[in-house]
Amino acid sequence: MEHYFTNNENLKSELRNLTLHIADTSLTFVSDLGVFAKDKIDYGSKLLIDVYLKEGRSEVSLLDVGCGYGVIGITLAKLLHTQSTLVDVNKRALHLAKMNAKEHKVDVSIIMSDGYDSVSGKFDCIMTNPPIRAGKATVMRILENAKEFLNDSGELWFVMRKDQGAKSAIAKLKEQYNIEIKEKSKGFYIIVAKKLLT
Ligand SMILES: C[S@@+](CC[C@H](N)C(=O)[O-])C[C@H]1O[C@@H](n2cnc3c(N)ncnc32)[C@H](O)[C@@H]1O
Repeated sequence: MEHYFTNNENLKSELRNLTLHIADTSLTFVSDLGVFAKDKIDYGSKLLIDVYLKEGRSEVSLLDVGCGYGVIGITLAKLLHTQSTLVDVNKRALHLAKMNAKEHKVDVSIIMSDGYDSVSGKFDCIMTNPPIRAGKATVMRILENAKEFLNDSGELWFVMRKDQGAKSAIAKLKEQYNIEIKEKSKGFYIIVAKKLLT
C-alpha cells in the first residue's frame, strides 16, 4: 500500500496551488499527488503556525521535521524570519518544498532525513505535524529525540489530534519534558514540550 511518505518514482504528477490564509496575508504553496495534505493545507498545521505566531518570536532557528511541501518552515521563515531547516523522507515533498521556498524567496535549508538522521546542530525550536500514518514508533522517536537537537531553552512544538493519541503521547513525554497544552481546537492539540534540565 502506498503512503504519502513512500517514494514512488512512477507516481504521476498533478501540480496544484494551495493557499494558506494566515495573519492577514495569503501564501500560496505548490502541492502534488503523493504528499500529505495534497489538496488542502492541513488544519492542524495551520493551527500550529497560528498559535506560534501569537508568541511574537522572531529570528529563531527552527527545524521542521516531516516538512511535506514546507508549509510550516517556509511560512515561519517568511513571516518571522526564522532560520528554518526542513527535513522529510519523501523526495517529492522535498522537491515541492524547494519550489515553494524559491517562490517565497526564503533562504531555508531542505534536507532528506529520516527523523534526525541527517540533522546536525541545535535549534531554538523544533516543530512537527508528525507522521501518524508512519506508526507510533516513528512518531515517538521524532518527539522523544527532539531534545537532543534543542538548545537548553529550546522548545518542541507539535500538533496532534486527541483521537490520534495526543493524551498518551503527552503522558509519555512528561518523563522527559515540561509539557504545556497551548491550544485545543476541533480535536487538535497544540503541545509545547520544554527540555527538563538536569
Ligand atoms: C502529517 S505530515 C506533515 C507534512 C507538513 N509538515 C504539513 O504540515 O503539511 C508528516 C510528514 O512526515 C514525513 N515523514 C514520514 N516519516 C518520516 C520520517 N521517518 N522522518 C521524517 N519525515 C517523515 C511524511 O513524508 C510527511 O510529509
